[in-house]
Amino acid sequence: MSDLYCVFGNPIAHSRSPAIHAEFARQTGQDMVYEARLAPVDGFAGAVSSFVAEGGRGANVTVPFKEDAYRLCTRLSPRAARAGAVNTLCFEGDEIHGDNTDGAGLLADISNNLDYPPTGKRVLLLGAGGAARGVVEPLLATQPAVLCIANRSLDKAQALVDLFADLAVSTPLTASTYAALDGQAFDLVINATSASLSGAALPLPPGLFAAGSLAYDMMYGKGETPFMQLAQAQGAARCADGLGMLVGQAAEAFAVWRGVYPDTAPVLASLRVTLKG
Ligand code: ATR
Repeated sequence: MSDLYCVFGNPIAHSRSPAIHAEFARQTGQDMVYEARLAPVDGFAGAVSSFVAEGGRGANVTVPFKEDAYRLCTRLSPRAARAGAVNTLCFEGDEIHGDNTDGAGLLADISNNLDYPPTGKRVLLLGAGGAARGVVEPLLATQPAVLCIANRSLDKAQALVDLFADLAVSTPLTASTYAALDGQAFDLVINATSASLSGAALPLPPGLFAAGSLAYDMMYGKGETPFMQLAQAQGAARCADGLGMLVGQAAEAFAVWRGVYPDTAPVLASLRVTLKG
């Protein structure tokens, strides 16, 4: 029987993860099945135990269950412990191991696919929720010139700065409101807010995007996201959406489970075509 994996979410019907992992499995010759599973919003733990009883070996976790997954784990990787959220589960007997591959997926996309490693660059992270928290550690590990976390409510940005202060050895780590960014410029601006879900535009002061800068939206959609449009209008040299991060985090999870790292480029290219269609 093939090894069983799934992604838990709510909603989950439109998840791209089953297609991505099916392609990784085909590419690397792994005998596995990967399904999308809808878990009740207040019933994540029950959905996991049913899946484990069916023989499930591992799972990805997406919105809104990453914190539930974090709490359910009996063991956490250091990066999942820091992120306070889990997107990758491994089931071994009674043990549930939790990992978080979101940050590694983002960095793989920015550094490898987009060939723009943050090392030495002025980096601005917009947002201070779960999505932002998951990427602070791997961003700091690349040693940017500065990492500024800007958020609508300053206290949440400051809380993230405090949480990661011990890792900011060679990189100044600062918190800001959007208005207080006025007069500063950055080489890499990453949108980790959920503002566009409600159709809201971020109130960013003009002049944020330095010459040659990259604007990266962790969201993705059919065309350019609202943040990419805003960034282009304000002078960002290049824009990218989060589809590469999605494929990157999947590849990292696949490697955790199967011990082989798949080739993400062809999967990302075909996903891009599907998304546009
Ligand atoms: P996620 O896990 O996706 O990060 P979250 O924890 O709810 O979700 O965090 C959402 C982030 O988007 C927060 O940084 C939030 O800002 P606040 O902390 O000030 O609420 C940000 N956000 C959501 N809607 C926004 C809006 N309309 N304008 C600006 N920021 C917004």
